[in-house]
Amino acid sequence: MRVLASAPAKIILFGEHSVVYGKPAIAAAIDLRTYVWAEFNKNGRIRIEAKDIKIPGLTVSFSESEIYFETDYGKAAEVLSYVREAINLVMEEAGQKKGVTVSITSQIPVGAGLGSSAAVAVATIGAVSKLLGLELTKEEVAKLGHKTELLVQGASSGIDPTVSAIGGFLYYEKGTFEELPAIELPIVVGYTGSSGSTKELVAKVRRSFEEMPDIITPILNSMGRIVEKAKEVILADYDKEIKFQLLGQLMNINHGLLDALGVSTKSLSDLVYASREAGALGAKITGAGGGGCMYALAPGKQSEVATAIKIAGGTPMITKISREGLRIEDVTQ
Ligand code: MEV
Repeated sequence: MRVLASAPAKIILFGEHSVVYGKPAIAAAIDLRTYVWAEFNKNGRIRIEAKDIKIPGLTVSFSESEIYFETDYGKAAEVLSYVREAINLVMEEAGQKKGVTVSITSQIPVGAGLGSSAAVAVATIGAVSKLLGLELTKEEVAKLGHKTELLVQGASSGIDPTVSAIGGFLYYEKGTFEELPAIELPIVVGYTGSSGSTKELVAKVRRSFEEMPDIITPILNSMGRIVEKAKEVILADYDKEIKFQLLGQLMNINHGLLDALGVSTKSLSDLVYASREAGALGAKITGAGGGGCMYALAPGKQSEVATAIKIAGGTPMITKISREGLRIEDVTQ
């Protein structure tokens, strides 16, 4: 028997990092997916085949007579540790230890702040639990995804695996979530091409918090208020133009506060400012930062903003919100 499961990437619209401190956040699943096949094997071991996990940063160097290729094996090992912990947790839950081969292909760039690790964990949990005959709800998969992140990263709010398992547009707070009404958000995602480590960035914010709690606490509190305000705006009965205007303003403030926490980079800020100059109403980092992606809200200006992102050295991606979270694609005998 073989099982194929897939899970989507996400963007955090508001509240990354402060969500780790129990504040709310708003995030949406997007239409890039990770696919995981799971099947039993005869040698009794766990085998992971990473067919394509979109690790950025292949470096090529030349000498007189040779070409050297280097890739970021550290990043690949980090992704695979999410897979390994996810498999172990499912086997514990099922009370079975069996030889399983898991093969992964992904459309989500690693370390881009789009939740590639959570998507790979959620798809792995979905595929392996189905293979072992364990019927888990999407909420249970999200909880195991959160445990996986805690084991690998040490700290995690659980927002990424929750959005990836459930899909759609969610308001998330301390492990619970509420679905928000689908609103068409004319956004452009800009990828810097470099990657950040969520684990290291979360630890960096933690260090600042411990060193200067009186300075960092009000920043985190403001971020929490921004999320509540954004939710009010999304649910309010305003014209679309007013909603976009207010959300854009909140995005810009949220970006400034993330910069104050030290998770922006020059390339992220270049893409943010280029988007605003090209007419975006708001632009901010999405996800952990330290490289990765930003997004811009650009009603009527999506192609201008996409061009500005390209000129500023990034890769624009026009994405749609994905209503579908974890999907068991196919079960074959
Ligand atoms: C990463 O996508 C979001 C962070 O807030 C970490 C987390 O919530 O676990 C930086």
